[in-house]
Amino acid sequence: MSEELKRQAAAMALTQVQSGMQLGLGTGSTARHFVDLLGEKVAAGFECICVPTSEATARQAESLNIPLSDLDTLDRLDITIDGADEIDPQLNLIKGAGGALLREKIVAAASDLMIVIADSSKLVETLGRFPLPIEVNRFGLGATRRTVEAVCRAHGCAGEVRLRTTATGESYVTDGDHLILDAFFGRISQPEALSADLLDIAGVVQHGLFLNMCKKAYVAAPDGVRTLSS
Ligand code: A5P
Repeated sequence: MSEELKRQAAAMALTQVQSGMQLGLGTGSTARHFVDLLGEKVAAGFECICVPTSEATARQAESLNIPLSDLDTLDRLDITIDGADEIDPQLNLIKGAGGALLREKIVAAASDLMIVIADSSKLVETLGRFPLPIEVNRFGLGATRRTVEAVCRAHGCAGEVRLRTTATGESYVTDGDHLILDAFFGRISQPEALSADLLDIAGVVQHGLFLNMCKKAYVAAPDGVRTLSS
């Protein structure tokens, strides 16, 4: 059911894509549906050029013969289509469960429009129920982690700040060769201030708060796909 809803949201986003567009391709199970659908369009002769937000998405797009480029070659992108872990009423997001937050943010920032696709389980009144991913440099992890914990606590973080690991217990490593700390807030009452304070920490590369970046979301529920705008 949930996969079907994700696919419906992805299909709505596909209606926004026009021939010749330069697109950002998101990461995750919902974005994967979009890439599949785009692949079908490309196989039928549709022209576009895309920048993937992860190695996984790049592999999927390549397997579907979707033309790929990068942000050294392309100046700007028309639309980035991506999933999200949480979406608040202003379309502020938490992203990064799939570990691709850094490239996702770079690609979204280089796009004229970011469209989020999701099922309705991602809608929240206040961000923070989902753990906030914070991407950090490997060097100085202990010191960075202590500072991140102090900043998170000062912003009301109720839970722990956990180093992300794989199923086999190893540290999870991002495409950019960084590590991820997941901060279990419960509730983030001042996301802008938290964002600034986290980015002030020397070892923090990026975090998963996407504030004022997403202007449109297609959110699928059993009774249909809703369009949300900010
Ligand atoms: C990837 O790093 C994430 O930002 C995903 O976009 C996000 O976790 C949504 O993933 P799903 O579509 O799999 O829920």
